[in-house]
Amino acid sequence: MTVLPVAELENLRVQAEQDLAQVTDDAALEAWRIRYLSRGQGRITAAVEALRSIAADQRREYGQAVNALKRAVEEQFTARREALARRRIEDTVQRGRIDVTLPGRPKPLGRLHPTTQTLRDMIAAFQELGFNVAEGPEVEWDWYNFSKLRIPPDHPARDMWDTFWVDVEHEGERPMLLRTHTSPNQIRVMERQEPPVRVLVPGRCYRFEATDATHEWMLTQVELLAVDEGISLADLKGTLDHFAKRMFGPDRQVMLHHSYFPFVEPGVEVAVDCFLCRGDGCRTCKGSGWIEILGAGMVHPEALEGVGYDSRRYTGFAAGIGVERIAMLRHGIDDIREFYRNDIRFLEQF
Ligand code: PHE
Repeated sequence: MTVLPVAELENLRVQAEQDLAQVTDDAALEAWRIRYLSRGQGRITAAVEALRSIAADQRREYGQAVNALKRAVEEQFTARREALARRRIEDTVQRGRIDVTLPGRPKPLGRLHPTTQTLRDMIAAFQELGFNVAEGPEVEWDWYNFSKLRIPPDHPARDMWDTFWVDVEHEGERPMLLRTHTSPNQIRVMERQEPPVRVLVPGRCYRFEATDATHEWMLTQVELLAVDEGISLADLKGTLDHFAKRMFGPDRQVMLHHSYFPFVEPGVEVAVDCFLCRGDGCRTCKGSGWIEILGAGMVHPEALEGVGYDSRRYTGFAAGIGVERIAMLRHGIDDIREFYRNDIRFLEQF
């Protein structure tokens, strides 16, 4: 083995460093390592092994020099390897880079349907007076929707509600329908509980009628029912007065005038003074200064007796309120068909 004089070691170092400076990827780095540092063929490894064949008087000087060389070059190799690894990571980051300063694409937030919003406000207004919420079925027996409410088959009052009938297949089965109002729940509630009753029943109702700006085949109602000893028309009026003020403002007044529903006596139509023109007369109140908002009355004694209540002891009032109608008045919506057309531009306004 040729013995390198100490001076030659310096040349070797310069060469190794220059070569290393050319290395730009892992493959080139490995080739460099084999050329200089590998066991069998490495030039620096060979220089270290040459120590054995050096004359004893030069061995110390050569040994120190070659070890220093080896350490220095190994350090540079490690530094190079780490630099390459760091660059690989930076490249990856650079390629997958996202601009975190770009504004995001907002997902539209859902909101409550205007019917739901108004319904919740209505429920809150009556809960303040001690009414509890109950529910009843949308597919209903003729019995509850009509007969028990004193509207027997063939009675002309049935014409007040155009009805979707449900085909029932079984022979002799009682007729079924989609409830035309929430009033069947007056009967259902009274059948399952004794007075005192203070209940409110929200729900969808269906009517087989042509649609126009004020008529839909599906609508939401709230049924109100209070039965106890000594309940009078004044209680009904006070309850509705509270309701009108809560929905349309503290200055509102209600007016009752006579109307007819077979299951109440007397029956009333209830109007609120126009909150737009304050009584002067405008388009919303059709010039009258008053806006009809609901039907109501004192529960008919025969309806009370029909569920086993003693009508000499108990009296009650009932009311049926159209939720879309209230929402239309509150928001100035002039076509009820907008509610279920599912046009998001309409719904987003509420
Ligand atoms: N159920 C009636 C309707 O839908 C309204 C009403 C309810 C009237 C309760 C009187 C008492 O037209």
